[in-house]
Formats: sequence, C-alpha cells, structure tokens
Amino acid sequence: MPASYDLIIRNATVASHAGIGPADIGVKDGRTAAIGDLATADAGEVIDASGLHVLPGVIDSQVHFREPGAEHKEDLATGSQAAVLGGVTAVFEMPNTRPSTTTAEALEDKLKRAAGRMWCDHAFYVGASAENAQDLADLEQLPGCSGVKMFMGSSTGDLLVWDDPTVLEVLKHGRRRVAIHAEDEERLKQRKHLADEGGVHQHPVWRDEETALRATTRVLKLAREAGRRIHVLHVTTAEEMALLANHRDIATVEVTPQHLTLAAPDCYDRLGTYAQMNPPIREARHRAALWDAVRAGIVDVIGSDHAPHTAEEKAKPYPQSPSGMPGVQTLLPLLLDHMNAGRLSLERLIDLTSTSAQRIFGIAGKGRLAVGYDADFTVVDLRKSWQIDEKWLASRCGWSPFAGQDIVGKPIGTIIRGQRVMWEDTLIGAPSGQPVRFQEAL
Ligand code: DOR
Repeated sequence: MPASYDLIIRNATVASHAGIGPADIGVKDGRTAAIGDLATADAGEVIDASGLHVLPGVIDSQVHFREPGAEHKEDLATGSQAAVLGGVTAVFEMPNTRPSTTTAEALEDKLKRAAGRMWCDHAFYVGASAENAQDLADLEQLPGCSGVKMFMGSSTGDLLVWDDPTVLEVLKHGRRRVAIHAEDEERLKQRKHLADEGGVHQHPVWRDEETALRATTRVLKLAREAGRRIHVLHVTTAEEMALLANHRDIATVEVTPQHLTLAAPDCYDRLGTYAQMNPPIREARHRAALWDAVRAGIVDVIGSDHAPHTAEEKAKPYPQSPSGMPGVQTLLPLLLDHMNAGRLSLERLIDLTSTSAQRIFGIAGKGRLAVGYDADFTVVDLRKSWQIDEKWLASRCGWSPFAGQDIVGKPIGTIIRGQRVMWEDTLIGAPSGQPVRFQEAL
C-alpha cells in the first residue's frame, strides 16, 4: 500500500533542518509527516512547487494590531490578512491597545476576538505595569500568552515602567523571557524640547543613541540581578550591539527590517513623518552596525514592529504625528531582497525568521521544518522581480514606507498546519488561526 497523506508538496526545494535541497513534503493531521521522495505516495491535495522554495513558516514576534481600541488603524482580521499575504504564519501581538493587555481578562478578550477572525496563528504579550508587577508570574503562564512586554520609555499607548525599582520588580516576577522596549524615559523627558523645536529630522536627535544605550545598560544590569532572561526589541545603535555582545547568556536581540533598510537623514527627507518610529531610524553608521551584528550572530530575530497609523494621523505636524509604520506584510519581501543583494544567506534568513523565534520563546511544535512539527510553510520564489504596490497591501492603514520599491524574491504561498491560506496574492478559505503554544506554559 502506498503511503497516504492529506497534502503533498511536490518538486520543491525544501529548506529544512537537514539543509536546502530537492524534496517532497507529506502532511498529515496538520503536521509534517515526511520529507523526501514521495513519488509513490497518495494525497488528498497535491501542490506542485516546481521552481519554488519551501521554508519553515515565518514567525513575526512583534506586531501591533490595534484591537481593541484603535480599529480605525488596524484590527486582528486585517492585520493577520497582511501577515499571510506576506508569507507570515504566526504573529505575537503587542499589549499597547486600549485597554492595555495587562490582565487575564484583557488577554482572554483578545483570544476571543482572534478566534474565527485571524488568518494566522497568534499569541499576545501581556504588558508590564507598576500595578500588575506582582501578577506577572501567573499572567505569563496563561494560554496564548507570548510573554511579558515592558516599555521603559513612552511610546504609543500608556504602558510605561521607567524606574529601576519597578523594572526590577517586573523582572523578579516570572520566569519566561521578558521583551523590552529600551529607551530611557527620564532622558526622553529632559530632551523633549528638542522635538518641539524642529521637524521630524529632530526625531533621532531627541530620542538619541544615549537614550537607547542608557536603558539597555540599565535593563541588562537589572536582569542579571533578577536572574531573568530578556529580549531587547528593535535595537538601533552600534553602541548597544557592542554591549549586547557581552551579555549573550541572558539577552537576545531583535532588529527590524526598517532599521536595516532605511537611514537618516534620507528617510526623513523622502518620507517625512511616515519614517517616524520609536526607537528612531538613525544614520547609516548605525544601519551598517546592525548588519555587522546580523552577520556576527548577535542578532537573534527580525520582527517587523508592524505599527500602523492612518495617513491622516501620520500627516500631522511633527511631533504631534504618531510613531510607527506598518511592516508585517513587507518583512519577508525586504529580507528576500536583502538576501538577493548578498547581505545575508537564505540559511541566516530562516534562522532570523523562524528557528530563532522557536528557540528564544520556546514555541511548542513550530519554527522548524521537521517531521512532527506543525506543517507551517512559507513558499517563496527567490528570484521573482516585482514592485511593492499599495494595492497589494492589506493593512487598514493603506500605506507603506516601502511602496514603489523594486524587490527580488516574493512570498508565493502561506500554509498553516497543512492548510493553504494564501496562494499567489489571494487569501484562501476562512480565517482559522489558532493560539501558539509555548513549552514553558504547556
Ligand atoms: O514606533 C513605534 N510605534 N514604537 C513603539 O514602540 C510603539 C509603536 C506603536 O504602537 O505605534
């Protein structure tokens, strides 16, 4: 009797734990069941992936989908449509919604809203505050929670833990890795006049290198004191990378495609407040240092920090304009383009977008293309030349800083637990995203 699968992907170039080469993939009950020559096997569905690469599903561990409270910018349905159209199979969503996700009830509310509406698998961060610090050990164990997020500097929303005693209190409650927005609130307040005195070119002057470095230095010391692992989000400076290289035992590192692609002053000349985000896009010296850190292995993951605001909001005069730009749909295209330009290998791209998320967040059963893991695949045409068109974007905000950019390399398909949810720019079926599970909270 020939082996039988629910789905076989034939004639692909498969990027798995074993390397990159020709293979078929068999899927059964939502999991990868076989990788190899399946020429004699049967299947309910067959996908011919000739000329295409099949990668482990891309995981975006930093997105803001704005629901509840700011659905005019984005919601869980539109944000997750953007994700799967960009080849992303799972997202971790941030807690700076309205209300902030600081309680079990708020987390439960997000999970209920996601059920039957989100297109990709998902988990939600719980936001740290002075009020919930004592509860975080319990909150981080709840199903569907990707961990705790702490804002050390004010950004969009009202989550803030700025002083050392409270940062330490947060770090002492719980065991899982804590995700950190590292900007020093006191320095931001002292220097706010610099923002008020000029246009958007002042953004990286106000929120300068020292603002980021001070917060990262403080949180590393406090994490060591608390014996707690941290994940420093969207690192933007050469100085922080040099520091983080000496703390690899307790700290993991994220960079964003925006910080790897754009540089000041050009981005502010071209895009004005549309290039405004926290921490800011800085000059080319820092962008070069971020690439050095990618090559050196200091960077663990790439997250998009998808942070949509409407064009009307972004067009307000600086500094009333909100910080943040969309990115979940352009994360993989930009990285494929950087790969084709020779800035990173396909193996490193996969490490940054799947394997490392599995490793550092302890995701259960995802993040590897291997037998027994969820059949989450991102199918790409590595050589396709195309242009990012605003009409292709699904985010409710309707714009991208990368619209009009020529790209080599395109997501062709998104397969989640064996179900095709996107093929050639078209959504397939109904939204059936599920909560991601974590090893430390099984
Ligand atoms: O630019 C940013 N926008 N940085 C953040 O930390 C928050 C985000 C948002 O939610 O708009």
